[in-house]
Amino acid sequence: MAMTLIIGVFMLLYGLYCYLVRPLNRVKNLGDLGFFFGHPEPKGKYKEMQIERMKKLRVLGDIPPVFPNGWFRIAETDDLKPKQVLPIVFMGQNLTLFRSENGSVHVINSYCPHLGANFSVGGRVVDNNCIQCPFHGWIFSGETGKCTRIPYSNSDKIPEKATVPVWPVVEVNRHIFIWYHCDGIPPTWEIPQIPEIDTGEWTFRGRTEHDVMCHIQEIPENGADLAHLHYLHIIGINEGCDITKMELSKKPSIRHVWNGSWEPEQEPNKHIGCMYLEHFLTVFGIQVPGTYVKLKAMQIGPGIVHMIFDFGFLGKGIVFQTVTPEDAVHQRVRFVMYAQTTALYAKIFMLSEAYQFERDIYVWTNKRYVKNPLYCKDDGPIAKHRRWFGQFYTDNSPRLNKDGSLTDRPKSLNDVNDW
Ligand code: FES
Ligand SMILES: [Fe+2]
Repeated sequence: MAMTLIIGVFMLLYGLYCYLVRPLNRVKNLGDLGFFFGHPEPKGKYKEMQIERMKKLRVLGDIPPVFPNGWFRIAETDDLKPKQVLPIVFMGQNLTLFRSENGSVHVINSYCPHLGANFSVGGRVVDNNCIQCPFHGWIFSGETGKCTRIPYSNSDKIPEKATVPVWPVVEVNRHIFIWYHCDGIPPTWEIPQIPEIDTGEWTFRGRTEHDVMCHIQEIPENGADLAHLHYLHIIGINEGCDITKMELSKKPSIRHVWNGSWEPEQEPNKHIGCMYLEHFLTVFGIQVPGTYVKLKAMQIGPGIVHMIFDFGFLGKGIVFQTVTPEDAVHQRVRFVMYAQTTALYAKIFMLSEAYQFERDIYVWTNKRYVKNPLYCKDDGPIAKHRRWFGQFYTDNSPRLNKDGSLTDRPKSLNDVNDW
C-alpha cells in the first residue's frame, strides 16, 4: 500500500516536472490542423484521402516562383551527431545530410552516380568527412563531392564524372542551414551570429514545428499584414487556435492588443526586413501586468526570422522562426527559443505564440494567392513587403507548372546533371 502511494506521488511529481519545466516540443504534422473536415472528423486512411482531395481542389492562384534564393534551415545542431547520416527533403528533392568525425556538416544529393543507390538509407560516414554508398561501397568527399575511393578497384580507375553534387552549408546559432541560388551564385549574405547562444547566456527553451501547405511567401508576408492582427489574433488564446470554432468578430473579454510596423533595411542589408511589435493582454479592458512584450523581428532572407525579445525583469531571449520549402507549396516551419527566462514562462510564451501561429495556418492552408489584392487604406505595407521579397527571385527561379511539375529542378552550385 505504502509502495503504491510512493510510486503514485513519484509519477505525479514527474508529470508535473514534464508539464512545467521540460522545454516545449510541439510538433504538428500535415492534417493535424489547418483543414476543415466537417463533422465527424474522418480518421486514418480516409482522412489522408480527404487531404489529397483538398490538395487537388485547392486553387493556388497566380503564385510567384516557388523556391526563392537564400539560406534555409534543414536541421538543428542536436539533430546530428558525429558520423550520423540524415535524409533531408528540400525543394522537392532527397538530399543527404551528414556530420564528419571531426564535426563538420555536409549536404549532398542523395543518389549515387554509380548505380543510383540512396546515400541516406544505409550510407556510412568514413575517412572523416566522406560518405560510403550502401550498394557497392564507393566513397565520396562531403567537401568536394568527388569519389575518393572505390574499395574493389584501383584509384586510377575512378571515372572522371564520379562526383555527387554538394550544397553550401553553415552551422550557426545551433542550427544547420543550406544555401540555394537558382543561378548557381555562392552565398551573398551571412546569417547573423547570436553571441548569447555561444556563451550559454541564453539557453534552449523549447520548439514548435508545423507542416504548412502554402506558398512560402505567405508566411513572412504575415509580418507586413498589420490589419489581420486586429481581427484574427485579437481573441484570447484561451479560446484556442481552431478558427472554425471561434467567434472571430465578437468582443472578447480577454483580448490581445497589437501595435506594429514593418520596414525593409537598406544596402548592404537589403535582404533584411524588420517588424517592430508591441503586445499586451487586457481583461475586460484592463491591461494585465507582465504581459507587455516588445519585439523586433528581423526577417533575414526568405526563410529566417530572428525575433529578439525583451521580457523586462524576466530577461531577454530570441525566438528563431525558420521556413523551409520541402516542396512547391509545402513548408516546414520551426520556432526555437533560447532565453534567460524561467522554463515555465518560456513554455507559456511559446504555447501562446504557437496558438496564434496555428490560426494563420488555418488561413494559409486553404487560401489562394492573390497577385493583385484589393487593398484598402488601412492595410499594412503588404505591397512594399512583396517588392522587398521579390529580390529573392531571379528569372531562373523555378515556377510551378499547371500539371504540378517545376520549370526547373533546384540545383546545388556544382550540379551539372540534366536529370
Ligand atoms: S550505387 Fe553507389 S556504389 Fe554503386
Ligand atoms: Fe498572423
